[in-house]
Amino acid sequence: MIMKVPQFEPFMGTEEYIAIKDCFDKNWITEGPKMKEFSSLLCGLMGAEFAVFAPNGTLALYLGLRSIGIKPGDEVIVPDFTFIGSATSVEMAGAVPVFADVNRDNFQIDIDSCEKYLTEKTKAIMPVHMYGMAANMSGVLNFAKRHNLLVIEDAAQAVGVRYNGKHCGTFGDVGCFSFFADKTITTGEGGFVVAKNEKIYKDLLYLRNQGRLERGSFIHPQMGYNFRMTDIQLAVGIVQFGKLPEIIEKKSRIIGLYREKLGNVEEIQFTKVEPGSTHIPFRVAVICKDAHRLMDSLSKKGIEGRTFFYPLHRQPCFQYLKDKGQNSQVLEDAQFPNAVYGYENGMCLPSFVGITEEQINYVCENIKAFYAE
Ligand SMILES: Cc1ncc(COP(=O)(O)O)c(C=O)c1O
Repeated sequence: MIMKVPQFEPFMGTEEYIAIKDCFDKNWITEGPKMKEFSSLLCGLMGAEFAVFAPNGTLALYLGLRSIGIKPGDEVIVPDFTFIGSATSVEMAGAVPVFADVNRDNFQIDIDSCEKYLTEKTKAIMPVHMYGMAANMSGVLNFAKRHNLLVIEDAAQAVGVRYNGKHCGTFGDVGCFSFFADKTITTGEGGFVVAKNEKIYKDLLYLRNQGRLERGSFIHPQMGYNFRMTDIQLAVGIVQFGKLPEIIEKKSRIIGLYREKLGNVEEIQFTKVEPGSTHIPFRVAVICKDAHRLMDSLSKKGIEGRTFFYPLHRQPCFQYLKDKGQNSQVLEDAQFPNAVYGYENGMCLPSFVGITEEQINYVCENIKAFYAE
């Protein structure tokens, strides 16, 4: 019998529904009182002082880049292995993403190989905290200090994740989070930018609120746009925040079950946790033999596996970087062996909060059956 196991399902319940209804009952549906409440909860968790919301994670990165002064022509080092939004946000700011290979242990930026990407135009580096664990932030911060670079952390997948006890997103000049439906906590769509100091924070406020600090005024001292969220979304975020301990506990149990059931399948290897990092598995990421054939076989059984990210240097939309004059890049597989290895051999196992033990058993049995054939 076929059992449906989707890659992902949001973890929402009556509590979120009641919170949305409350916004309607109070007749406040644009960004309002819920913003302060959710922001102070998140800042409390992260130990952050300055932060603003954004409509989604991609725009949080864009705001972050603009607020630290990234401008057209600047280069920003971005891992080759990440979600496209890490790099399109750089392009949106008019700057040039320069792709860097990742390591094979956990597919985080390989900071030891980043020296070769430096030019006089390099202004920033964007570590991405991948799959619910931190990048090597000691390495990134050392590298940035040595080369006088700004640091923008893509912490879209890292709510709750700590590195040497400090929350991801609070190491760099800015740290950017996503609350998309599949993220650790969700508002449907949403984003959050944590700033290192008051100056960056002020710039973020102008940028996100039509170039002014107060709403209701039609005088705009700076150039800015509308990057606000709605109280409807923020109210959902507050409820989700309250569920964070339960979400972390369930996610840890899910990866524990997979490890227990697949630990002795030699064709499957779990990605290694970065030393110093906690792990809240945004996805359960594994390297496996014949990954793409395995995913095809699982899909016939109703199980939705997911490939690792398609390397950015292969993306059709970034091929223009080959002919960008002084910013030209060599976008060949040989330059990014680990990102390519990850795409060809990686799979994300279904690991949404509500997955049942029965579903996990079903996934594991079908994986074992595939390799037994
Ligand atoms: C690493 C990473 N960066 C950026 C984003 C973009 O976030 P959003 O989808 O909220 O724009 C995502 C979302 O999937 C992500 O995983």
